[in-house]
Amino acid sequence: MSGVIEQSKTQNDAQAITVAKDLEDIDFLFTVTEETELKNYHQLIGKIRDEGTGVAPVWLKRGWPGYLVTRPADIEACYKDWEIFSSELSHDALTAPFMGKSMAGMEGRNHIDFRKLVNSPFKKKNLEKTIRPQLRQVADTIIDEFASNGSAELMTEFCKKYPMAVIGSILGIPTENWEEISGWARDIFLGTSRESRVSAANSFSDYVLEVIQQRREVPQDDLISQLCTTEIDNRKLTDFEIKQFMMLLFPAGVDTTWMSIGTMMTAILSTPGAKERLLLEPDIRDLAVQETLRWDSPIGLLPRIIRHDTTVGGVKMAAGSTVCLVHSAANRDPKLYENPEQWIVDRPVGRMLSFAFGPHQCLGQHLARMEMRVALEALLERLPNLSLIDGPSAFWGTAVRGPSAVNVSFDVS
Ligand code: HEM
Repeated sequence: MSGVIEQSKTQNDAQAITVAKDLEDIDFLFTVTEETELKNYHQLIGKIRDEGTGVAPVWLKRGWPGYLVTRPADIEACYKDWEIFSSELSHDALTAPFMGKSMAGMEGRNHIDFRKLVNSPFKKKNLEKTIRPQLRQVADTIIDEFASNGSAELMTEFCKKYPMAVIGSILGIPTENWEEISGWARDIFLGTSRESRVSAANSFSDYVLEVIQQRREVPQDDLISQLCTTEIDNRKLTDFEIKQFMMLLFPAGVDTTWMSIGTMMTAILSTPGAKERLLLEPDIRDLAVQETLRWDSPIGLLPRIIRHDTTVGGVKMAAGSTVCLVHSAANRDPKLYENPEQWIVDRPVGRMLSFAFGPHQCLGQHLARMEMRVALEALLERLPNLSLIDGPSAFWGTAVRGPSAVNVSFDVS
C-alpha cells in the first residue's frame, strides 16, 4: 500500500496538477457518508463533462493526485483497459489493508476463474427461482414494523433493513445476527479509525469462519453451503476465499441497494403522477427502477489507480495517479439522454454506468433490480396515500450516494 502512495506523491510533485477553485475542497474519493450536502453537485460534475476534455484534476485528501473522468466513452475505455486502470492497485491501497484481498481487487485470469465459481447463484434465471419468491415476504415483514405508525423515515426503517435481510437470508445467517454483521462490514470500509476497521474485520472473520465450518459439516439450503461445495475445473473455494467474498457481499449488496431504494422513493414521490401510474401500470415498474439507477447512481464514482503513464480524453496522466470514474456525470450526459436531469417514470434507459462496465461489472445487478422492483411494489401497495413530508431531502455523497432521509406519511388502514 505505502508503495502506491509514495509513488503518487512523487508523481504529484512532478505533475504539478492545477485544481480548479470550485473543486479544491472536495475529496471525491472519501466523501462517502459525511453529513454534508454537496450543493449543486450534479451541476459541478456536469460542467466538467460538457466542457473541454471532460477530465478534471483533483486532489484526493490523502495527498493523491487524481482525475475525474466524466464522459461515458472515456469511463468505459478505462474500465475495459484493466491492465492500465488497475482495480488491484486501488484495492491494495484502499480496502485490502483492512479486509484483505477480495474478487473486487483481482485481475485477469485469477478474476475470471474466481467469478466463474461464484457467478451461478446471481444469474437472473437462478434468482427468479431461488430468491424472487421470498422477496415480497421479506419486504412485507419489515413494513409491518411501522405500517400502523402513519409516518416513517424510510432510509432507516425500510431501505437499509430490506437488503440486509435479503443478503442475510440468501447466505443463511440467523436473523438476530444480520444487524451486527452488516455493521462490521460497514465499519471495515467506512470506519473512522484504523483500529475500528481492523477490529470490525476481525469480528467479521471470527463469526463467518465459524459459520463456514458448520456448513462444511452440515450443509444447508443456502449460499454459504453452495459456495462450500462448488467446484469448477477441479478448483474449490477455500474457507478464506468464501469469507472474503462474504465480506465483500455485505457492503456491495447492502449499502448500494439501501441508497438506490431511497433514491427511487424520493424520485417517485416528488414526481407528480408517478405513484399513481406505477400502481396502475405494472409494466412500467422495471423502467422506473432502471431510470432511478441512471438518474442518481448509488455508486456515484469508482477509483482505479494507473499502472503506466497514459492519456484519457487527451489529458496525460502519470503512473500512480487515481482516476475517479464518475458514473453520476456519465449517466446524465445530454448526448445520451434528453432532459437528463429529469427523472421520467417510463423513460427507456439504454447505456448507463451505475453497475460499472467490463470485467468487474456488478455481479449482483439482477438481484439489485429485483429487490428494487419488489420494494417499489410493496411500499406503494401497502402504504396508502404515501407522500413525502416537507419534500425531498438533500442527497449526500460522491462515491456512495443517496438521500439523507426519506420522511413519509401514509394512511393507517
Ligand atoms: C443498486 C445496487 C447496486 C449497485 C449500483 C452496484 C454497483 C456495483 C459496481 C459499480 C460494481 C463494480 C465495482 C468495481 O468495478 O470495482 C459492483 C461490483 C460488485 N457488486 Fe454490485 N451493485 C449493486 C448491488 C449489488 C448486490 C445486491 C450485490 C450482491 C448481493 C452486489 C455484488 C457485487 C459484487 C460481488 C461485485 C464485485 C464484482 C467483481 O469484482 O467482479 N452488488 N457493483
